[in-house]
Amino acid sequence: MNATTLLRNDHQAVDRLFTQFAETSPDDTSYRRLIFRLIKSELEAHSRVEEEVFYPAVMRLRSAQARETVRAALEDHQALDGLLAEIDQMEPDDPQYGARLAALRQSVERHVLAEEGALFSEARIHLTDERLEALGRQMELRRKEHAVGGAGELESVGAPASAGGAGAAPDRTPVRVR
Ligand SMILES: [Fe+2]
Ligand SMILES: [Fe+2]
Repeated sequence: MNATTLLRNDHQAVDRLFTQFAETSPDDTSYRRLIFRLIKSELEAHSRVEEEVFYPAVMRLRSAQARETVRAALEDHQALDGLLAEIDQMEPDDPQYGARLAALRQSVERHVLAEEGALFSEARIHLTDERLEALGRQMELRRKEHAVGGAGELESVGAPASAGGAGAAPDRTPVRVR
């Protein structure tokens, strides 16, 4: 699958989860936490494959604009990781829980707009269809590996907030952008 199609599908899947969350009642705390955990694991897996495969490919393009958009996107990822960690520490019956989720959704939407705009157009201008297909396949593979690693995290829904994060940490590969 073309890399940009794959990433856009991921964006839409996360957006559907946010909609699902928005439709919950604040009293439905365990369901709310479950949806949040899904959003968190989806977003984290998505960001990691972008950082491991897609961003380095765009970073290597002979385009200052491309490198600048990747740098900005990496900053977004850091901010999103921070928000995810912060919400993960909250109790779902916290009166601010819904508001923090709404803030997270806004930040994700802004980031997605920037990716699908500037970043994707740089990729489409400078990369061939074959290259985009190859990057898509690479990301699908990495995504499956992350999904295997993250399966325990979903099973631990309801466990102390730190459990999933601690288990996920060793899987993180540093961004290989230069
Ligand atoms: Fe993305
Ligand atoms: Fe991203």
